[in-house]
Amino acid sequence: MYNLLKGKKGIIFGALDENSIAWKTAERVHEEGGQFVLTNAPVAMRMGKINDLAEKTGAQIIPADATNMEDLQNLVVKAMEILGGKLDFVLHSIGMSVNVRKNIPYTESNYEYYAKGWDVSALSFHKVCQTLHKNDAMNQWGSIVALTYIAAQRTFPDYNDMADNKAYLESIARSFGYFYGKDKKVRINTISQSPTATTAGQGVKGFDGFITYANLMSPLGNATAEDCANYTVSLFSDLTRMVTMQNLYHDGGFSNVGVTPEVIASMNK
Ligand SMILES: NC(=O)c1ccc[n+]([C@@H]2O[C@H](COP(=O)([O-])OP(=O)(O)OC[C@H]3O[C@@H](n4cnc5c(N)ncnc54)[C@H](O)[C@@H]3O)[C@@H](O)[C@H]2O)c1
Repeated sequence: MYNLLKGKKGIIFGALDENSIAWKTAERVHEEGGQFVLTNAPVAMRMGKINDLAEKTGAQIIPADATNMEDLQNLVVKAMEILGGKLDFVLHSIGMSVNVRKNIPYTESNYEYYAKGWDVSALSFHKVCQTLHKNDAMNQWGSIVALTYIAAQRTFPDYNDMADNKAYLESIARSFGYFYGKDKKVRINTISQSPTATTAGQGVKGFDGFITYANLMSPLGNATAEDCANYTVSLFSDLTRMVTMQNLYHDGGFSNVGVTPEVIASMNK
């Protein structure tokens, strides 16, 4: 505990259950003295778990479908009312592909599903940033973070259309980051996280083998959701004031490794 976020206020999207990266982040932000509103899609709310997190962290919950501009407007205005002023941090921890859910191969993508997944996983980030910007809802040096995956840069066949959504998401972070930085000195970054055992993560085909592979390929091993929460806290803090428009790998070194003896050993007959 370093009190890194004392006096800071924000919004955390995407805490579904105790495995969610957003859940762990909310716990860490709370420990560091930050106050926040929790939000998730109304349908996810019905699972009811988010209430436990809200109780634990003293947060209020405002439901919002992150693809719906009215919901987002209501969320941002109400969050500022509840927290008593402008915001310092926002976490976008949202992802969903209908093609992945329905096991449709990339080469046979259904375009309605594709568009839906893109809206939820990528465009929603622009919608969140635009709503914050229009309402002048962020304090100077505020920090907005979204979560992404290295399939945006390299092909991981079973990641399917989520790879395209993540490439788009990372581009929005750079583009909006430019304008928000210029106008208001607000920072926007994406964290490219190791495979992590969450509801969204486990939706990817062959996830168990894949998480083991990534672990063997990373000199530090896979970064956990708790590690990701710590990194996010650092990006919300004043210690990273000049970091913006970046895609930041948080993966135990995976992104810079070609192969490891452990992986080769697992290939040898
Ligand atoms: N788990 C991994 O291996 C991994 C790796 C890298 C990046 N990520 C990214 O991390 C983020 C968080 O995912 P997670 O792994 O914690 O899984 P998760 O399933 O716990 O979280 C995904 C969240 O997105 C929310 N969501 C879906 N549709 C929404 C909508 N229309 N409006 C608002 N919220 C909506 C869900 O309710 C859920 O809370 C995602 O962007 C994911 O792609 C995950």
